[in-house]
Amino acid sequence: MIKASHVSHFYGAEQVLFDLSFEIKGGEFLFLSGESGSGKSTLLSILSTLLKPSSGELLIDGESVDKIKNIDYFRQSKVGFVFQFHYLINYLSVYENIVLAALDDKKHNIKKILKKLGILELSARYPNEISGGQRQRVALARALVNEPKIIFADEPTGSLDSKNSTIVYGLLADALKNGTTVVVASHDMRIENYATQIIRLKDGQIL
Ligand SMILES: Nc1ncnc2c1ncn2[C@@H]1O[C@H](COP(=O)(O)OP(=O)(O)OP(=O)(O)O)[C@@H](O)[C@H]1O
Ligand SMILES: [Mg+2]
Repeated sequence: MIKASHVSHFYGAEQVLFDLSFEIKGGEFLFLSGESGSGKSTLLSILSTLLKPSSGELLIDGESVDKIKNIDYFRQSKVGFVFQFHYLINYLSVYENIVLAALDDKKHNIKKILKKLGILELSARYPNEISGGQRQRVALARALVNEPKIIFADEPTGSLDSKNSTIVYGLLADALKNGTTVVVASHDMRIENYATQIIRLKDGQIL
């Protein structure tokens, strides 16, 4: 479904990814692991089409990303994102943050997902009125609402305790069961238990 072919990336003169080639098949759970600064977030941004690699190519269902005409539609309808720093809109409530991202025919999913994540009672609150872990769950709810074909999550359990981390893994595992491909970048080695493919990065190279 996604193929990275000789992907390298530079920030200015600094090279942070080195000639990476691998494939993510539909229905896989890919775990990107590696120390802080190893390039996980950068690679995740490239795989999710948000960042263009300095060189190399990304193919989605056999087509080069550069040639996909309606990339915004592709992102909204097929891809769910959970960012390392959960970008919620501060002047919108929890519920409104999710509605904003939801396609019309997927709005009915919102309550179900909020309930599952244990944050339904926070629907009317604003992001600055909830904890970091709760914000993390709102970001996950937003990513799941459109039932994406593929979900990219950067440290989705970064600010969660172990109980809430387990809930998040459970939701990602459920999404996987329902046919969603899952790509997670994290330090949290417990994710290994859920992964079908593990890529370990060290200084921008695959170990
Ligand atoms: N926007 C940027 N401009 C310049 N350098 C950057 C930028 N973003 C990341 N870097 C550098 O690129 C390298 C890889 O960063 P990246 O964020 O991909 O690592 P990471 O594995 O996600 O780290 P962490 O586990 O701390 O989130 C690091 O050396 C980082 O300092
Ligand atoms: Mg990161």
